Amino acid sequence: MSVIAKQCPDIQITLVDVNAARIAAWNDDNLDNIPVYEPGLAEIVGECRNRNLFFSTDIDKAIDEADMIFISVNTPTKNYGRGKGMAADLKYIELCARQIAHVAKNDKIVVEKSTLPVRTAAALKSILDNTGTGVNFHILSNPEFLAEGTAIKDLLEPDRVLIGGENKDAIQALVDIYARWVDRDKILTTNLWSSELSKLTANAFLAQRVSSINSISELCEKTGANVDEVAKAIGMDSRIGPKFLKASVGFGGSCFQKDILNLVYIARSYNLHKVADYWEQVIIMNDHQKHRFADNIIQTLFNTVNGKKIAILGWAFKKDTNDTRESASIYVADYLLNELANISVYDPKVPAEKVFIDLDNLNSRPSEENRTLVTVEKDPYLACKDAHAIAILTEWDEFKDYDWKRIKEHMMKPAFIFDGRKLLNRKEMEALGFIYYAIGE
Ligand code: UGA
Repeated sequence: MSVIAKQCPDIQITLVDVNAARIAAWNDDNLDNIPVYEPGLAEIVGECRNRNLFFSTDIDKAIDEADMIFISVNTPTKNYGRGKGMAADLKYIELCARQIAHVAKNDKIVVEKSTLPVRTAAALKSILDNTGTGVNFHILSNPEFLAEGTAIKDLLEPDRVLIGGENKDAIQALVDIYARWVDRDKILTTNLWSSELSKLTANAFLAQRVSSINSISELCEKTGANVDEVAKAIGMDSRIGPKFLKASVGFGGSCFQKDILNLVYIARSYNLHKVADYWEQVIIMNDHQKHRFADNIIQTLFNTVNGKKIAILGWAFKKDTNDTRESASIYVADYLLNELANISVYDPKVPAEKVFIDLDNLNSRPSEENRTLVTVEKDPYLACKDAHAIAILTEWDEFKDYDWKRIKEHMMKPAFIFDGRKLLNRKEMEALGFIYYAIGE
């Protein structure tokens, strides 16, 4: 919405949320305090806020005044009842639809921005079409394809914008907004269901690439092949392409796992079990990658990490974000904590409290125990001091520039590095005397 506000100064955009503290943070005079860290975002919010971009808790007023409403609430994996652990929880979407239905006095275009299971628009439509107020609603699906860490660039120069809908005028109204800065031939219009399903499919294909290369990384470790070399060799085939082939400790983030689980659930709900099994493997491989990474640490440290200090560098699910949802770090740390390791975490953007909340949310042990076994440091050198091993789990650029000689001097010996991102240079690390393990080598 900030990028739309920037590109369309004549359109007034109001962001509303029930969470007053979050809205207050978005309105904070100090732009360092806005809730999301994303390169370039603070500058845009600074440029547009109180010009044509407003943050408010007055939801009814915003609905009343709007011509177009974007529903952008989260759709987490259900953690209760039918479809638990698989289906998307549409509670918040439905609450939005009901509030819009209740408040609206004139015709509105309602845009699904959240990632939704295919055919959600049908549920939205049935709530909005039965208000009895005579108000007409046109529903559009406009899924978002930005990736965190590169969100602003992705929004300013999207590969494509996708708009699904039934009503020509409503579609055109949204096309006209994006067409201010996106080439018309990159704005695709489809029917509602294709648009909804394309979003899940895009994420499933992307995650599948990561799981595919990660599966090969394990084979590389056994055979003497190097996964980076394999990725380069296959990526030069223009049919495969070079992007998204970086082997890692496992993909994280709020989307891939949730969306694939959702795809699997939908396929099963249509009795398409072979389709469901096929996509479920992407998740199974990702879980395996996180576990085998942690297992390798334990085995290499002479089969026990009990009482040993392991430093984790990076808690965010990827660099240039403070988002930790489904980050591989959480699961690797949890696995090591089950083996009674002492963990010390450093991440340049993730605060200590978030680390503890992430671990507490797994319910693996009492939260006091997490606080006893885990420390979160603001200084990476302190995090690594006296450690038996360092695990690199996020690809933050700054890790490459550390004084690794100094780090090694203050570690227990032998000093191990487990590089889950293939970030460091093996030759340099070995020359410094580290025992260096990297995924897929
Ligand atoms: C992903 C998609 O890339 C976006 O297109 C989509 O809009 C978004 O989900 C969403 O649905 O909201 P995001 O999760 O922000 O974006 O970040 P990605 O760059 O896709 O990375 C996801 C995870 O895969 C990260 O943990 C990353 O480190 C990992 N990854 C990615 C790899 O391990 N290897 C790769 O080659 C690429």
